[in-house]
Amino acid sequence: MYQEKIEAIKAAIAAADAQTPDQLEAYRMEFISKKSMVGELFAAMGQIPNEEKRAYGQLVNGVKQLAEEKFQELIEKVNATNKKSKSADIDLTLPPSNQALGGIHPLTATRQRIIEIFERIGFNLSEGPEIEDDWHNFTALNFPENHPAREMQDTFFIEKNPDIALRTHTSSVQVRVMENQKPPIRTLSPGRVYRNEAISARAHCIFHQVEGLYVDENVGFADLKNTLYHFAKEMFGKETKVRFRPSFFPFTEPSAEIDISCLICGGKGCNVCKHSGWVEIGGSGMVDPNVLENCGIDSKKYTGFAFGMGIERIAMLKYQIRDLRLFTENDVRFLRQFRPML
Ligand code: PHE
Repeated sequence: MYQEKIEAIKAAIAAADAQTPDQLEAYRMEFISKKSMVGELFAAMGQIPNEEKRAYGQLVNGVKQLAEEKFQELIEKVNATNKKSKSADIDLTLPPSNQALGGIHPLTATRQRIIEIFERIGFNLSEGPEIEDDWHNFTALNFPENHPAREMQDTFFIEKNPDIALRTHTSSVQVRVMENQKPPIRTLSPGRVYRNEAISARAHCIFHQVEGLYVDENVGFADLKNTLYHFAKEMFGKETKVRFRPSFFPFTEPSAEIDISCLICGGKGCNVCKHSGWVEIGGSGMVDPNVLENCGIDSKKYTGFAFGMGIERIAMLKYQIRDLRLFTENDVRFLRQFRPML
């Protein structure tokens, strides 16, 4: 009975599978070639009675079509798995290609280190707007009406009367903190500041500062000195010496510039310290009582110290960078030097 045989072949076709070119060839031999089961069905045509030939022919053609469709399916499948196995055919023992690792920008690293040192001795962080009004940037800080820092050559004004400007220092943030908090205040204000200066190896119109403020009862100049001694040794190493030079700022009295012993020559004298053995890292002083009063703090009860340092200046000393413009030029040959070592 050929019907049964045909059904059995159909089932075999449906169940057939191939993973490799060899199995594909085996399928072809079994179902497609002249000597295959399907080929034999055609060869058997002669034995079929004439009246059944038509029906038989239709059945056998159907099986042939089924076998060929399945063959196409299997070819595609084998091709696809073959491609995959080719890409997996790589040498896993080869060393991997280098991944280009990014690094932390030297200014960010320096800023983080400064914050870390002061956080450990009880300073918190405060931030404020880069666009400031005259009160927070100048007036509350005891700048006299006609102080040269207010003039156009130093300050980028955005609006005049009332004056709105890009902040020239982060002391403006300290005013905001004092207006909103009661002593004791121990805060650090890192941030970007703007001054209308010609760009050179040592100056830029955009740079970064960290300013610190400590207001409480009985805060004295000795506290200021000890805090900065501690900072300098943590930041630059135990051998570092600190010196305070009398100076003037409208918002501090007395005021002092902070110098550290030159890291490059160890104090002997070199180009970087201009043969003095000392380099300046910032300004400091006791908060002027007028400033405390302007911010609503009783200056009879409370005293405070403040200091401000340039982050670029500190990074230049720490990493011995001679041109401040390198920080903002995004030259990968410069930045690559600050990638973590592998
Ligand atoms: N604000 C000063 C500056 O930008 C630095 C400073 C801060 C000086 C605090 C004294 C006290 O130059």
